[in-house]
Amino acid sequence: MDQYNTPIICIRPGQSTHVIIVSSPSIACEFLKTQDEVFASRLKTFSAYLTSGYRSTSMAPLESQWKMMRRILNQNILSFSVHKWLQSTRDDEANHLLSYISNQIQKQNSLSEGGLINIRIASQQFCGNVIRKMIFGTRFFGQGMEDGGPGDEENEHVLALFTILKYLNAFCIADYFPWLRGKIDFDGHEKIIRAAIEGVRKYHDPLIDERILTWNDGTRTQEKDELMIATVDNLSNAVEWVMGEMMSEPSILKRAVEEFDNVVGCNRLVEESDIPQLNYIKACIKESFRLHPIAPFNVPHVSVKNTIVAGYFIPKGSHVLLSRVGLGRNPDVWKDPMRFDPDRHLGEEGKQVVLTDNELKMLSFSTGKPGCRGVLLGSTITTMLLARMIQGFTWELPYNEPTIKLVENHEALLLAKPLVTIAKPRLPRYLYPKI
Ligand code: HEM
Repeated sequence: MDQYNTPIICIRPGQSTHVIIVSSPSIACEFLKTQDEVFASRLKTFSAYLTSGYRSTSMAPLESQWKMMRRILNQNILSFSVHKWLQSTRDDEANHLLSYISNQIQKQNSLSEGGLINIRIASQQFCGNVIRKMIFGTRFFGQGMEDGGPGDEENEHVLALFTILKYLNAFCIADYFPWLRGKIDFDGHEKIIRAAIEGVRKYHDPLIDERILTWNDGTRTQEKDELMIATVDNLSNAVEWVMGEMMSEPSILKRAVEEFDNVVGCNRLVEESDIPQLNYIKACIKESFRLHPIAPFNVPHVSVKNTIVAGYFIPKGSHVLLSRVGLGRNPDVWKDPMRFDPDRHLGEEGKQVVLTDNELKMLSFSTGKPGCRGVLLGSTITTMLLARMIQGFTWELPYNEPTIKLVENHEALLLAKPLVTIAKPRLPRYLYPKI
């Protein structure tokens, strides 16, 4: 798009499919806000079929299944009352994160010397633990590790989730030549996604079956059985990048620490109720969503009728991809777009920073009819993860790697190398929960 200097482009991978890519906020808003009735539907991709048979909300075209799933999510799973009800579960996991990191430090050295922490593992497992605990009531599918870390089962589960998320909306030849489906797996896509689905189901299915049994014989009366929704990727990626950016620009880390000292102090742990006051921390996370989205494009949308957008004719059945990178790094919208600068999200004094952007100048949770259902939960988990890490520990680069390479990996937009840094406890000892 940069090459053609255009904010909207159309490519035609199959004979009859138009794929429209957009990197301008005003055009993106026309697609997802002004004309969301036309563009809210989803593609019937082969991966979505293999993963859920088009039954889950984010993979169902806008038909009765999507409406039903959306109602269940809004009323029973992601409502404000359920969010409040599950706060103690999230609190447990926020405490568990602190003990996991302190145990890692203790295992390697002494608390005063600090220890190496792999931020990617800590973040992904924290998000995985929260969601597993909320959905299945268990942090570990197996025994876990003695230090509170993930066991083989959890590592396998998170890896399988990431693989599904990576391939779910990736380019797949069979989506453009549907007669290939189930016949020839040219790009190996089908094999990989089938194996990953198997890797997730082997842990989910026994627990779901058990629940169905207890529901059927009447021993379970509360509505707390839901779907496992993949929520590990956006959150953990954002936090790993923020930590990386902070390590290479210590003045940002210093300001974040000062915010904790002012808002929370050093005699208690940061809690969810502090989040409204943690504006600089939220600005850092938002900046990470802008500059380092987990994927180059939003989930694809498909048009249900012919229409005109920004003066262009868009035929029915077109696939619309909002470029997360194109929006977030658009030089017409953001000054010095490649610079990590949380200040750009701080509004007037007293105004709260939120992680959403309904004007689509960047794409975090998207907007309109099919926008993310988990804004409150996603914002809470991400903020608490970063907040507990920064309030609880000082972070330094290892002595043998004094600089950090903020480079993306080739296939996705994750940091090319997992971030490993030295953590030292910074709060009084009695505040660190024990496992
Ligand atoms: C920081 C965390 C998160 C980010 C950045 C994020 C982002 C997104 C994005 C970009 C979409 C696609 C919207 C579109 O098609 O235009 C989406 C959809 C969705 N997200 Fe999230 N999400 C996050 C966390 C969560 C969580 C925690 C949940 C629930 C547990 C969740 C549930 C959903 C659902 C159900 C959809 C499909 C909505 C629909 O089609 O009606 N998300 N999310």
